[in-house]
Amino acid sequence: MSKKEGYTPHPFDAENGVQTSGLIPGRYLKSGHKHDRHSTAYFGVSPSVFRALLRRWKRTNPAARVKDFAFIDVGAGMGRAMLLAGEHSFRQVIGIELNPILARAAQRNLAIWKEAGRVRVPMQIVCGDALDAGFPDGPCLVFFFNPFGASVMRRLLKRLAVVFADRPGQLDILYVNNEQELAIERQRGFTRLFHGKERRSRADAIADHRIMANQPDGEYAAANYEDCSIWRWDGQS
Ligand SMILES: C[S@@+](CC[C@H](N)C(=O)[O-])C[C@H]1O[C@@H](n2cnc3c(N)ncnc32)[C@H](O)[C@@H]1O
Repeated sequence: MSKKEGYTPHPFDAENGVQTSGLIPGRYLKSGHKHDRHSTAYFGVSPSVFRALLRRWKRTNPAARVKDFAFIDVGAGMGRAMLLAGEHSFRQVIGIELNPILARAAQRNLAIWKEAGRVRVPMQIVCGDALDAGFPDGPCLVFFFNPFGASVMRRLLKRLAVVFADRPGQLDILYVNNEQELAIERQRGFTRLFHGKERRSRADAIADHRIMANQPDGEYAAANYEDCSIWRWDGQS
């Protein structure tokens, strides 16, 4: 993708020698899967927003220690959130990505991370649909950066309610750009622990505005913050 088509590097890539930048509208994310049409876009999460939300989650008195949680990025794209999660001592980090080209990019980024000696916990990218994904035993922290529309979100939440039915407190959700949060509100069994804005750092705001200003059709917007929420499954569904 050329700069004219919306590719502008984010400083996260320059600082870390990886490639996670760019904005790819959902209509260009073709994998051949029937859920392609529900895909919002590819865009890497702002590191400052991710770190702020994770800090906030740690203050919510999670049911287990951070090192006992598996971190699962649903809609992992090129793996930026996975790399950021790797800064913390999770039990493991898993990314699920529908688009094979993005999944391969994430795989390359993980290899660079590994080569640099920065992989401290098992990290794995799975190429496939979120609705087919397996969730590991033990406490899970599921991350969404607005990957898909309401219908996929609703069906995934129903699945989570079944998988975690007898596991109260073992599922927390971090949701950045929480456009489908009504779906979580309507899925019985989840309690909202936080709803509010996480601000982008100045550097992230400049980078993201530049990427947005460069997009071909001007359909996506970046503010200086992201609407976010944190949810906990209490198993009462
Ligand atoms: C906004 S990007 C988020 C990227 C990454 N989580 C991050 O924060 O850097 C959303 C991603 O969700 C993926 N996606 C959309 N629908 C999906 C589905 N049904 N299953 C798995 N991934 C999906 C898209 O291909 C896209 O890469």
